[in-house]
Amino acid sequence: MTKKLPVMEVPLEDGKHALRRIKRDGILDPDREVTPIGGKLLIPVTKGGNGYSDKLPIKNRVPSPYENIVAHVDIPKKLIPLLPTRWERIGKVLLLKLAPELLPYKGIIGRCYAKNIGMDTVALQGDILGRTRKPEIEIIYGTETETVHLENDVEFKLDVAKIMFSSGNIDERIRMSKVDTDGEIVIDMFAGIGYFSLPMAVHGTPERIYSLEINPVAHGYLQENCRINNVENVVKPVLGDNRDFSCEEPADRVVMGYLHDTWKYLYKAFEFLNDEGIIHYHTLVKEGEIEVGLREQLADCGIDDFSILKLKNIKSYAPHVYHVVADVKIG
Ligand SMILES: C[S@@+](CC[C@H](N)C(=O)[O-])C[C@H]1O[C@@H](n2cnc3c(N)ncnc32)[C@H](O)[C@@H]1O
Repeated sequence: MTKKLPVMEVPLEDGKHALRRIKRDGILDPDREVTPIGGKLLIPVTKGGNGYSDKLPIKNRVPSPYENIVAHVDIPKKLIPLLPTRWERIGKVLLLKLAPELLPYKGIIGRCYAKNIGMDTVALQGDILGRTRKPEIEIIYGTETETVHLENDVEFKLDVAKIMFSSGNIDERIRMSKVDTDGEIVIDMFAGIGYFSLPMAVHGTPERIYSLEINPVAHGYLQENCRINNVENVVKPVLGDNRDFSCEEPADRVVMGYLHDTWKYLYKAFEFLNDEGIIHYHTLVKEGEIEVGLREQLADCGIDDFSILKLKNIKSYAPHVYHVVADVKIG
């Protein structure tokens, strides 16, 4: 016989309001169905409520990967609340951060996450270092760190032990895939493995994209990604410091997907554009002075004939510091 469990019984007409309140209070029981019975709505709750019922159908719910992990991981019970509820998936590699108390069990945890999320490799995520943005990771399960990440119909092949991939920038990668680049010459000054060049080439119709990258490993993946995504006729990967590159044709658009002193490279973007065009300028600015800070950076570089077409907050970077991107029209 089914056990009588707590419910909140309300008149049908009050149901919507009551359900919203119960959800907000976090006491809705996810395992039973909300059910109307005889002019009343019975809402399953985990605590509180104004009665008990055994009439609510049990949901045929597939447990989430996290619920499976919690149910199966073989670590002391008191540590279970410390298990990460969020992670980054890059292709078949899972990146996690673990509380220090969990580190003695990292092998067990890695295996459990890999099994329940369906990953080949699990690694602990550390800092991202230096100008080439090299990630620090520690593998806790599996061996393979080279993987192919599929996003927005674009395949990004990379080695997560050598190259960063910021899942947090997904909206910006998608936005760049929708920018109208028809017939344009584009220069992607900090191309990496093709974070922006590939979505633009796969989804848009630019004439050419020069993708400049200083790190030979990232450049190698960029070349391979152009082949995989079939955009070799559009994207031209160039290895080297973007400040040493001279383009044989003026650009219509420059992408500056880099943080840390991006303003130091503005003069070069300006040179590529030949006084006219659009710069997608990524930078760090302080909270409360985003637009002022940005205008100052541009003015300090001697750029005065510009307008900001769009200003977008990408993510919080540090306390009171934001990663923003501005679409700046020059000329
Ligand atoms: C990793 S990306 C930044 C993140 C990326 N925009 C995203 O959406 O995730 C920055 C790239 O710029 C490259 N880079 C840094 N300085 C450079 C320079 N002077 N010339 C060319 N590439 C450079 C780095 O090697 C790195 O691959």
